[in-house]
Amino acid sequence: MQGGLENYKVGSKNNWRRRMWNQAVRRLRHKGVRISEARVLYLSGEQDLDRPVALSKGFDEANLFAVDRSKDVVASLRRRGVIAICGNFVHVFDNWPEHSPIDFCFADFCCNLNRQPLALVGEVLVYKRSSPVVAVNMMRGREIEFEWIRCFAHQVFGKSMPYLEKHRGAQLLLLQCIRTAYLLCVANELFEMGDGNWMDGLSRHPHVMLEAVSIISNAMAPYLSTYVAGRNYMDSVIFDWPFCTQEQRLENDIIAEDKVKNTRGRIAAALALSTRKKRGSRKAS
Ligand SMILES: C[S@@+](CC[C@H](N)C(=O)[O-])C[C@H]1O[C@@H](n2cnc3c(N)ncnc32)[C@H](O)[C@@H]1O
Repeated sequence: MQGGLENYKVGSKNNWRRRMWNQAVRRLRHKGVRISEARVLYLSGEQDLDRPVALSKGFDEANLFAVDRSKDVVASLRRRGVIAICGNFVHVFDNWPEHSPIDFCFADFCCNLNRQPLALVGEVLVYKRSSPVVAVNMMRGREIEFEWIRCFAHQVFGKSMPYLEKHRGAQLLLLQCIRTAYLLCVANELFEMGDGNWMDGLSRHPHVMLEAVSIISNAMAPYLSTYVAGRNYMDSVIFDWPFCTQEQRLENDIIAEDKVKNTRGRIAAALALSTRKKRGSRKAS
């Protein structure tokens, strides 16, 4: 895994932001996606500071879909002509239609390693029938609920992978490694599918975990980054998601069915607006 620590306070987030968009551009081009056609879902915030950076890199404003759970923020964005969807970022991404897939999912959560990033990477992406570039940004904190991830890393890798001790992006990816190692163990009959003690099983086979880390590093090419904002350490990871699946999710455990309908309606309205904007700019040119 590559990465760097931007340790200066003033403008640290803007530098990080530019770095993320540069990474996204490089990765999308590598996949053969035209930047002017790449569809982006991003957490904008009211200031929408990512938009000018995205436009300067060649993204089309008709393909930039801002998400915010605050109605006021969304109303303010819409007054400025931004295509904005009101809702929870993970729910919106989860319910995005397959016919117009997202190419770059930019989840600048600014929260701890909690249910949101875990749901995005651990549950939603796993069943995506597309292969977007994904960036997740998180704040380092005292995440007691997910302390097991750090403990597990320590148990399996000792001090050989020091970034796993602290870096929230690396810890998030560790989940994917655990999933892969689990499947490798089952395939190699080291333990059985559904074995209640699979965590213990995995820690008894550290070579399988190492193999899984190598598989994930090669397939997802994660880029880790950290910047300091005030007193907080912000950890992020950007990666390719190559695991496009044909599997159907059995249940939508992230969101209740009636909310799914609302979210899909809002996405459909945003896509319709995107189409109108594209038609408008074609007529004008
Ligand atoms: C997470 S930051 C966005 C940062 C922005 N990318 C920037 O660089 O300034 C703050 C905004 O995100 C919204 N927000 C935070 N978590 C969210 C989530 N899971 N879904 C939707 N909106 C969220 C908040 O309402 C707030 O307006």
